[in-house]
Amino acid sequence: MIAYILYTALTGLAILPLLLYFRNPYFFQDLQYTIFALKIAVRLSKFKKQTPYYCLLDRFLEQVARQPHKKFILFEESSYTYSQVDKESNKVARALSTHGHLKEGDTVALFLGNEPQFVWIWLALTKLGCISSFLNYNIRSKSLLHCFSCCEAKVLVAGADLRDAVEEVLPTLRQQGVRVFILSKDSNVEGIESLSDQIQQASDQPLSPQLRANITRKSPALYIYTSGTTGLPKAAVINNEKIWRISFLQSIAGVRSDDIIYVYLPLYHSAGFLMGVCGAIEKGITVVLKRKFSASNFWNDCRKYNVTVIQYIGETLHYLCNTPKRDNDKDHKVRLAFGNGIRADIWADFLQRFGDIHICECYGATEGNVGFVNYCGKVGAIGKEHFLHKMSFKYALIRYDTEKEEPVKDSRGFCIEVPKGETGLFVAKIGERAPFSGYAKNAQQTERKKMRDVFVKGDLYFNSGDLLRIDNEGFVFFQDRIGDTFRWKGENVATTEVADNLLMVDCVEEANVYGVKVPGHEGRIGMAALKIKENMDFDGKAVYQHVKSYLPSYAQPRFIRIQDVMVLTGTFKPMKVKLAEEGFDPGVISDPLFYLEENKSYVPMTQEIFSSIGEGKIRL
Ligand SMILES: *[C@@H]1O[C@H](CO)[C@@H](O)[C@H](O)[C@H]1NC(C)=O
Ligand SMILES: *[C@@H]1O[C@H](CO)[C@@H](O)[C@H](O)[C@H]1NC(C)=O
Ligand SMILES: *[C@@H]1O[C@H](CO)[C@@H](O)[C@H](O)[C@H]1NC(C)=O
Repeated sequence: MIAYILYTALTGLAILPLLLYFRNPYFFQDLQYTIFALKIAVRLSKFKKQTPYYCLLDRFLEQVARQPHKKFILFEESSYTYSQVDKESNKVARALSTHGHLKEGDTVALFLGNEPQFVWIWLALTKLGCISSFLNYNIRSKSLLHCFSCCEAKVLVAGADLRDAVEEVLPTLRQQGVRVFILSKDSNVEGIESLSDQIQQASDQPLSPQLRANITRKSPALYIYTSGTTGLPKAAVINNEKIWRISFLQSIAGVRSDDIIYVYLPLYHSAGFLMGVCGAIEKGITVVLKRKFSASNFWNDCRKYNVTVIQYIGETLHYLCNTPKRDNDKDHKVRLAFGNGIRADIWADFLQRFGDIHICECYGATEGNVGFVNYCGKVGAIGKEHFLHKMSFKYALIRYDTEKEEPVKDSRGFCIEVPKGETGLFVAKIGERAPFSGYAKNAQQTERKKMRDVFVKGDLYFNSGDLLRIDNEGFVFFQDRIGDTFRWKGENVATTEVADNLLMVDCVEEANVYGVKVPGHEGRIGMAALKIKENMDFDGKAVYQHVKSYLPSYAQPRFIRIQDVMVLTGTFKPMKVKLAEEGFDPGVISDPLFYLEENKSYVPMTQEIFSSIGEGKIRL
């Protein structure tokens, strides 16, 4: 009898998981995520209690002590162990502290490509309690000065290969009293000091943690530039706790301590640096660092370095799928890919072509306060809702009018949450658990990302600018970024990137880029509404030359419309939908219109050109 009861009870226990599974097929993954999330919460609260704050640098030092001889960075034909990187960073810290007179709280701009030095210079600055500002190494002249001035850095450290770019802006930097160091052994330009020789001579002895004694979890640690939704790049403030949160994504995605990660994304962005390098430090794994993405060398590198984890953003996996098929496509050790922005169709293609690789989509803006992770591997989803997540953070999808480009309000003037399964604008409440640090020295742009009085008077939300949909199972799907991209010739055109480029031309004061429909063509072709600086004229040749040298052909605006005033939407973004509908017909639009004539310039748009395009005589 007793045996029978025991037997029933045991079988009952055995089928319990099965029952749970039928009720919720993602039960085990949800459970695993719950455990991870709780562990992370516990660790973060432990760090919080420590003074000085236990930051990622401390974790790095712990890894150095635990596994000094483990390879940390593999780069081209060189390799560096955890201990070597630590010593290199000590030398840099000493050289910069002696010659750059840096102290806790100072900001240093780093203008450097993807190379191992990037990592140890950042570690060095962190050891000194300084804030690093990562400049995009592709920018030049005015954009470079703009980004540099965003963060009020006192010192610039630049790669030797970027010397020309630095010399171009040197007079302005010197006027502002900025110290400029170049990573080479000598410098014969007045105002540019060599740093590599100083680093070589410096001692590699550890630095006192006292140097960063005042750092807290909320102290700014990094400035990372994002385009946000409009205008010039802005420096998102990344504090120490945010570094932790993003670093933990690797654990959530399933990275193990014996993995080898391939980092080819630019280190000046959060994907490459925070998710890639910082995540690797958290796990104590090996990083294979690449100067830049190369679709044709990608898998050879993975084979050469025994890579097991890769990252992706946007279209990178698409580019891999577009390479010619090879017999050894499945011959590699990659088992996990994590990142953001893979399209559902590419996802399926990718798996079929390159084998059984677990794909983990993560969603979140560099400056955003709440994100999602698709820890179930559901094709096409950018994340999954989780009850812990819902308990800890208040977020919502609100109804959005894409015509008027603003949220729909109810009779009392508040936003309306969309029902499950419908698309809405993702907003997340700003609070202690979900802070929004904003953009450095840019109160106006910071304010623009905030929404007030969303559901009740006085509440405050972060406006992601993304339209999402959440299905009945809690999977989150990306629908659109408001007014930010359009497709032309099968390529995504990022309007902010094009606008940023146009702003670099002398005569342009403001630029608003959007896509217009052309009869007989798929997608939308680029058009820009420009506001010209006072007392200047539209310089078609200059804009043409700039656009030709800096933008791929599919992203070059084919039409330009000159406006006296930029029309803004209710949420202070340039109006795009209405302009896109108005198109480029000179018979209808009274503003001056220009047309990009191949191999020539922007020329005034005529009725004749308009008709030829309509009749298909001019192919765009
Ligand atoms: C840390 O803060 C204390 C008190 O605010 C100050 O006296 C000290 O100089 C600071 N230390 C550094 C390294 O800035
Ligand atoms: C990759 O793995 C193979 C077999 O496990 C090993 O022989 C080889 O040395 C490894 N390559 C590198 C670069 O570690
Ligand atoms: C523009 O120039 C390129 C190369 O110089 C040439 O291949 C192309 O046909 C030209 N396009 C037109 C419309 O003249």
